[in-house]
Amino acid sequence: MTRRVSLTRYLVEQQRADGRIPPQLRLLLEVVARACKRISFAVNKGELGEVMGSAGSENVQGEVQKKLDIIANETLIEANEWGGHLAAMASEEMEGIYVVPNRYPQGEYLLMFDPLDGSSNIDINMSIGTIFSVLKKHDAHPGVHDSDFFQPGNQQVAAGYCIYGPQTTLVLTVGDGVAMFTLDREQGSFILIEENIKIPEDTKEFAINMSNMRHWDEPMKRYIDECLAGEDGPRGKNFNMRWVAAMVADVHRILCRGGVFMYPWDKREPHKAGKLRLMYEANPMSWLIEQAGGASTNCRERIMDIQPTELHQRVAVVLGSKNEVERVTRYHLEADK
Ligand code: AHG
Ligand code: MN
Ligand code: MN
Repeated sequence: MTRRVSLTRYLVEQQRADGRIPPQLRLLLEVVARACKRISFAVNKGELGEVMGSAGSENVQGEVQKKLDIIANETLIEANEWGGHLAAMASEEMEGIYVVPNRYPQGEYLLMFDPLDGSSNIDINMSIGTIFSVLKKHDAHPGVHDSDFFQPGNQQVAAGYCIYGPQTTLVLTVGDGVAMFTLDREQGSFILIEENIKIPEDTKEFAINMSNMRHWDEPMKRYIDECLAGEDGPRGKNFNMRWVAAMVADVHRILCRGGVFMYPWDKREPHKAGKLRLMYEANPMSWLIEQAGGASTNCRERIMDIQPTELHQRVAVVLGSKNEVERVTRYHLEADK
């Protein structure tokens, strides 16, 4: 019989191997996975579970909230608040941080999430996901403040996402490579399907919302123009394009077969650094990509080295196959000179 490794077993083995996962972090990851399982079941029910459509409210970013955005947010909070492993949580769907209530013991970890990524895909039965990032509260000062969360991505102790697609798959790193687990619905547990995932350094596939092209700045246009020129252009090869409109799904494809994903700054909202959020979208995805041998920048510098100053801070994102990310970054730095 082939050995089936559950997420629980994987985490226990990681804990034993070299203490990479302290018991409280292991509990945290188990709880996040359990919450994702619940979200997956809600997503699957769709119209039958009355989870589709708008909730009739807006989040702090001015985006219309879908019912599933709120269900996923509440599921993650309820699952995580009582275990004693967390000090506080922060979410795309909440303006401020959520400190673990007094009635529960307080732990030393900080959890951030995008409870439902790719909200525009919910109502059309396309892939969506949950993205999460875990930090440790460093200061021993009493209470928890926003500033406890303001740590660069290189301080993450765990990061991952769960994609709700044809399969529900949880992808995780604790700094020892990237592992993927698919949900076995009969058994109710996540089973390891691949370890030490590596993405190729070169690729012929890019992901970007091309409808924004006229709003980009020159280096971004240059890169895409050269890709579009194909065999006849300076790149001397034909490129393919994919855009799912859910970062989770686009990053998942890149972890599976390589590629480059971009959401650059653009002129539509010039005062914002980009569309995606640094703390609970870009940082966890950047760490996964780097752990798989790829690279991730904001077109100029490594995303994981950016010092956050706001919970919902935005950032330009270029991530994926190393040589393409380096090329996009180089075009920007050359243009700056
Ligand atoms: P969210 O649903 O959490 O707000 O995130 C959506 C993000 C990201 O997942 C995706 O890559 C991007 O927005 C899609 O943007 P466009 O609507 O410009 O395609
Ligand atoms: Mn998102
Ligand atoms: Mn979201």
